Amino acid sequence: MAVLTVIIGVVLGLCMLSTALLKWNEMKYRKKGLPPGTMGWPLFGETTDFLKQGPTFMKNQRARYGSVFKSHILGCPTVVSMDPELNRCILMSESKGILPGYPQSMLEILGKKNIAAVHGPAHKTMRGALLSLVSPTIIKQQILPTIDQFMRSHLSYWTNQIIDIQEKTKEMALLSSLKQVFGDESCSLSKELMPEFFKLVLGTLSLPIDLPNTNYHCGLQARKNIVRMLKGLIEERRNSKETHEDMLSSLMSGGENRYQLSDEEIIDQIITILYSGYETVSTTSMMAVKYLHDHPRVLEELRKEHMGIRERKMAEDPLDWDDYKSMKFTRAVIFETSRLATIVNGVLRKTIKDMELNGFVIPKGWRIYVYTRELNYDPCLYPDPHTFNPWRWLDRSLETQNYFFIFGGGTRQCPGKELGIAEISTFLHYFVTKYRWEEVGGDKLMKFPRVEAPNGLHIRVSDL
Ligand code: HEM
Repeated sequence: MAVLTVIIGVVLGLCMLSTALLKWNEMKYRKKGLPPGTMGWPLFGETTDFLKQGPTFMKNQRARYGSVFKSHILGCPTVVSMDPELNRCILMSESKGILPGYPQSMLEILGKKNIAAVHGPAHKTMRGALLSLVSPTIIKQQILPTIDQFMRSHLSYWTNQIIDIQEKTKEMALLSSLKQVFGDESCSLSKELMPEFFKLVLGTLSLPIDLPNTNYHCGLQARKNIVRMLKGLIEERRNSKETHEDMLSSLMSGGENRYQLSDEEIIDQIITILYSGYETVSTTSMMAVKYLHDHPRVLEELRKEHMGIRERKMAEDPLDWDDYKSMKFTRAVIFETSRLATIVNGVLRKTIKDMELNGFVIPKGWRIYVYTRELNYDPCLYPDPHTFNPWRWLDRSLETQNYFFIFGGGTRQCPGKELGIAEISTFLHYFVTKYRWEEVGGDKLMKFPRVEAPNGLHIRVSDL
């Protein structure tokens, strides 16, 4: 009896303590004009619900509080916006005091000069320098031939075996970027750089606790090692008379392309290029393989497009700009894959002063989660939104509509969009013209917070 009384007492006590803590946390953030919503537990906020329930948590909160609500997620008081018009407006409002709001661990590891860490004139310079590296002319003359050569040889060993397409597309995305940035020197560099890069990526997604063996600590160490390697390479190139046709050489001869960057800026720019194109390109490629496997009619149409290109060429001829531009259905498959899988759920911003948005007050230092995921399943934009239907994208106006946020929007819209599409298109070209494949089965796919196959996605590949 006494034991039961103690248990009831403890349970009651815990309930009262929880209620008091939740109330206290709500009071702490009570301020006139804030959007409605709940702040959860002190310190942790609603992070657990957000990560566990993901899109369902967001939809439930929207049903209760409307499409703009407050919360406390990933260590920060946050306003979530699921309002398409407001999202567009936020993405355009950098000059009014809404800056990128990525976590500290990401900014520290990617570098102080990385494009997401800078704003104003510094952002203009870094963005201008990057855009000049991936202009349509450069993609046509320099990058597409490099990607073609790389994909052709990279995919040539995949036949008659079971491969983990997740692992293979990750390796492919990184090696392809390394080739574009460092040209032929990428081969000698990749062995040392790749393991460090994987540690760097893990570090950017971790809590910023700098203790031995934490992912954050290893990420910082990996950054130091990569910086050392890149400094060495820049030095070597300066002392050598050899010429190169790659991104590093364009960045170093900044005078020619109007943007003279310091060595620190060049290094952070390179890390940003490798980082930004890595997961986006690899995950979209993996999911395209998945959807094509599950939708034979789409695969047949895609193959028809690529076989048509091959028929016009000799077996060893590389893809050229005209071939790439003719891949209308491939582009549609890539957009439909990004939409249906939601490779990017949204983007993060922060306020640098108290701001008014949609009649609500957003205090200085709060994060804004421009959550665009639900737009991908809006039946007004995409009829029958849960069906994989690339044909919908053949109407090019879908790509230019106001709420197309797959590559972000406004002043920070993805500068690597065409580069990413060219890489995935070239991958698909060689993959579907050389191989057929079937899933081995049983592999799990997670859609949130990131699209990933926790145990890999295994396929059996054979010659066509
Ligand atoms: C399918 C592939 C890709 C997708 C879906 C994608 C998506 C995005 C999105 C949504 C943003 C906006 C981030 C924000 O507003 O905070 C962005 C920005 C960015 N992306 Fe991509 N991206 C892709 C490929 C690439 C590639 C290949 C590169 C390599 C150059 C790249 C470089 C960048 C950079 C540097 C930014 C930051 C721009 C700025 O802050 O001004 N992306 N990307």
